[in-house]
Amino acid sequence: MANLIVNLDRRLSHINPEVYGNFSEHLGHCIYDGIYVGENSAIPNVNGMRSDIVAALKAIHLPVLRWPGGCFADSYHWQDGIGPRQTRKRMVNTHWGGVVEDNSFGTHEFFEFCRQVGCEPYVNGNLGSGTVREMSEWIEYMTFDGLSPMSQLRQANGQAGPWHLKYFGIGNENWGCGGNMRPSYYADVYRRYQTYVRSYGDHQIYKIACGPNSDDYAWTEEVMKLAGNYMDGLSLHYYTVNGDWEHKGPATGFSKADWYKTLKNTLHMEELIRGHLAIMDRYDPQHKVDLIVDEWGTWYEVEPGTNPGFLYQQNTTRDALVAAINYNIFNKYSDRIPMTNLAQLVNVLQALILTDGEQMVLTPTYYVVDLYQHHQGADLLESMVDTRLVGQEANVQVPDLSESASVSEDGTVNITLANLAADRAAAVQVQLTGQSAAAYTLTEARILKGDRDCLDLHNSFTQPQAVRPADYAAQVKAAQPGQFSLQLPAASVLLLRFSQAQEG
Ligand code: AHR
Repeated sequence: MANLIVNLDRRLSHINPEVYGNFSEHLGHCIYDGIYVGENSAIPNVNGMRSDIVAALKAIHLPVLRWPGGCFADSYHWQDGIGPRQTRKRMVNTHWGGVVEDNSFGTHEFFEFCRQVGCEPYVNGNLGSGTVREMSEWIEYMTFDGLSPMSQLRQANGQAGPWHLKYFGIGNENWGCGGNMRPSYYADVYRRYQTYVRSYGDHQIYKIACGPNSDDYAWTEEVMKLAGNYMDGLSLHYYTVNGDWEHKGPATGFSKADWYKTLKNTLHMEELIRGHLAIMDRYDPQHKVDLIVDEWGTWYEVEPGTNPGFLYQQNTTRDALVAAINYNIFNKYSDRIPMTNLAQLVNVLQALILTDGEQMVLTPTYYVVDLYQHHQGADLLESMVDTRLVGQEANVQVPDLSESASVSEDGTVNITLANLAADRAAAVQVQLTGQSAAAYTLTEARILKGDRDCLDLHNSFTQPQAVRPADYAAQVKAAQPGQFSLQLPAASVLLLRFSQAQEG
């Protein structure tokens, strides 16, 4: 029996809602057909934005969305994406499939999508191939409230007032697709560009610098040393790849060994976070600079027959476990990580949603975000769980359980717990401790259950509901005050919620 202990008297940090953010790039069918179909589409839409997608994202309270890339951001020229659509300049999307981008989804459309969903926009600027002036004018266009050439241009294009923009990224992966720069060079260029990213009036821009790729600690060291005083956040990109980049393996039809390898590689996230934070701490002992994990998720081979440049992959309960593990880690580091962005929103990599024409499928990853949404804006509670190692039969060792706990503003306690074991249930005893622990009763239990005989359980357009959360309350037994026991099935993710019993 594994003990899961949650101390209700120890609030450790606030979990910023943006920890549950996402990412949308001009890549494959993320924007076009995914988010945006245009006003004249037969697919139900409001101002061109798919109504089914907007409703699905509202249901999980998507807090923030990054756009327009990714690698695309450093070849994107925002002025090509404003004004009458029929006259917008076309460009070749050289990073992603070499397709022609007609720029019909631009700044106005992005803010409109965020408005409909009710999320914060996070815009990523072009440092790789754009000019300082271009970046500076984009900020003016989006956020300046007075009379200026850019605000007048915005008004002429139909947006009277400025938009609210908090997060702005200054370059993306500038160690690679964003210019192949060395860290000291990027640090200097970053310092220059960020100078002209003005905060107009009360409008404070939170500046995010390009951070390391995975375990490139030298990048973090140099950029923090030379430019740490000029940023609010440093981004980290880490994708879960099963095997190496040359042999990523398929999203479905994988072995038990692949299951465990993928989960082990996911757990590596914590080591990366610790390693980069330790370096950041040396240059920023007061923790003024946050770590922003603005790209993470699984990256497999594309689905057979699809454009290799579109990064379209299926999404199984293995991806659900990847999301659950990462979110439990992010919750635990929420004192230093105020935002993360899963890659990506629709039809790309570890997508929340897949579309095919007018059809839409919610993936197992979507349902994990659904279960975890109660952590948004809650306070992290001290928690721990006993674990045992699993995966030895596949020559991999991972702890079987992953957990985190929080308390919402209304006092409800949220626990999320994942069983990484491919084929073994875990007996768990949940123990709430603290002064009033005995007064708490279970108010909700929902589970996303995998299948030990079908590790790649997933939703498809023919079987859209093969995997979805189910009620699990009847399986949670109250043992004694503040103590509950349950069996957590193999390959599953569980949400438990407890509240203080109402008097009278
Ligand atoms: O998310 C896909 C790509 O992965 C992004 O464009 C890039 O930043 C990263 O390499």
